Amino acid sequence: MAPTTNLQDAVILITGGAGFLGGYFTEALTAAGATVVVTDLADADVVMDVTDQQSIDDAFARVVAEHGKIDVVINNAARDPKFDPKAEQNQLEFTNYPEEAMQGSVDVNLLGAWRVCKAAVRQMKTAGGGTIVNVASFYGVTPPRKEVYPVGTEKPIDYAITKAGLIMLTRQIASQFGVDGIRANALAPGGVFNEHDDEFVDKYKEHTSLDRMNTPEEVADALVFLCSPASRGMTGETLVVDAGWRSR
Ligand SMILES: NC(=O)c1ccc[n+]([C@@H]2O[C@H](COP(=O)([O-])OP(=O)(O)OC[C@H]3O[C@@H](n4cnc5c(N)ncnc54)[C@H](O)[C@@H]3O)[C@@H](O)[C@H]2O)c1
Repeated sequence: MAPTTNLQDAVILITGGAGFLGGYFTEALTAAGATVVVTDLADADVVMDVTDQQSIDDAFARVVAEHGKIDVVINNAARDPKFDPKAEQNQLEFTNYPEEAMQGSVDVNLLGAWRVCKAAVRQMKTAGGGTIVNVASFYGVTPPRKEVYPVGTEKPIDYAITKAGLIMLTRQIASQFGVDGIRANALAPGGVFNEHDDEFVDKYKEHTSLDRMNTPEEVADALVFLCSPASRGMTGETLVVDAGWRSR
């Protein structure tokens, strides 16, 4: 029997694919047999800005013209400020958080995914079905812990809010378009190790059952599962891959 994580013949469009996790995601999906079209603001197969509906619609039209179809759409683009111990004090604090930063994150992380989902649902309804995976975060289901982030370096408030919204967008699409053969699930990774300093990793891992941060490869494996027929019985769910973060 062929493995059900086989993505042979699948055409997959990923947003924000030129970033840190995008490379790992593309490699894992390609290894599973998929043709992956990487979209991003630059350094991509197709340039697409998720804040611009015309740019999204043009990119979808181009991919369908080139590949004949789009089976899977992954909303991965985000404003995701990385942990920075040197971040300017107060800049990120709740009471001073700049309104334009909040609006920018809503526009990319939440409305961006919503715009892409509109294009995806339109295309998938015509095609008779498809799969959407929205890359959220464990911080969309649980708030960051104060002990892990020194004051002034907290994960900004806009990140958690937009990722929580993305999870509900996913459930809404699943509920509304399951009858059209469209599945939608969210992937909620924990903190993925990316040259964080030892002090941060030590504090972070104290809160995980596996006593470590996640690796990009294990998050990519979960993405392959959600994109593939192996997850065909799931929709509207959030798959949390967070090394057992204990505060949930
Ligand atoms: N890295 C982690 O530890 C981690 C943990 C949990 C969730 N996530 C989520 O995984 C996804 C990928 O994270 P990453 O670490 O690769 O982030 P990243 O910042 O390296 O990549 C994000 C990409 O999104 C693109 N992007 C930003 N604005 C865009 C726009 N308007 N239109 C199109 N593309 C745009 C950027 O150019 C960038 O390439 C994000 O949704 C992130 O929130 C990451």
